[in-house]
Amino acid sequence: MIIAQTERLILRLQTLLDAEKLVEMNSDPEVLRYTGDTTLAHVSEARTLLEEKVFPQWQNYKMGRFAVTLKCGDYLGWCGLKFHPETSEVDLGYRFLKKFWGKGYATESSRAALEYGFDHLNLERIIAKAMPDNKGSLKVIQKLGMSFRGYQHDPTDPQSFIRYELNRNEWKG
Ligand SMILES: CC(C)(COP(=O)(O)OP(=O)(O)OC[C@H]1O[C@@H](n2cnc3c(N)ncnc32)[C@H](O)[C@@H]1OP(=O)(O)O)[C@@H](O)C(=O)NCCC(=O)NCCS
Repeated sequence: MIIAQTERLILRLQTLLDAEKLVEMNSDPEVLRYTGDTTLAHVSEARTLLEEKVFPQWQNYKMGRFAVTLKCGDYLGWCGLKFHPETSEVDLGYRFLKKFWGKGYATESSRAALEYGFDHLNLERIIAKAMPDNKGSLKVIQKLGMSFRGYQHDPTDPQSFIRYELNRNEWKG
């Protein structure tokens, strides 16, 4: 199911057929470097991730890390929203195959995800977090107009994050 279209991209619900691409993406240490995630060893692991983590976000909250493709259908990665029940916050996230970095795809797909969140789900606030060394992700967040809200340190996680927020009234100025 298609969620949004941009000039170059389609954002659609992920399906079990995306599992192979998730394995490919998560087997690249450079892709995982600033995510805190581990590799997905087998397609079956990726399918479990989709079934247990990704699909329920859509079923329960109408949110998701959506698959991002070119208009011709070529898979680039994922981008989208996730609801965190423990804090009631919604965050923006993205991940792309390395060969597609630096072409503006994260920024373009994120704008569509933010639009979906604010205009379709009527969210009040969307946050984003990135590790301080993840310069590419921080650049995307800043290009989206999100506001710096300081450093965040979860006691269970040795890694600190820089936190950004975008409120509904700041969206599109
Ligand atoms: C982060 C990521 C999604 C960015 O995707 P992308 O499609 O390359 O992003 P965009 O092209 O929209 O924008 C990236 C910007 O950061 C800049 N950038 C990238 N690496 C950089 C670096 N090391 N230092 C400074 N700027 C950098 C790019 O030049 C670009 O800026 P520009 O538009 O002014 O040229 C991609 O690198 C990725 O998938 N990384 C692995 C997963 C990840 O880290 N996800 C985020 C977790 S918070």
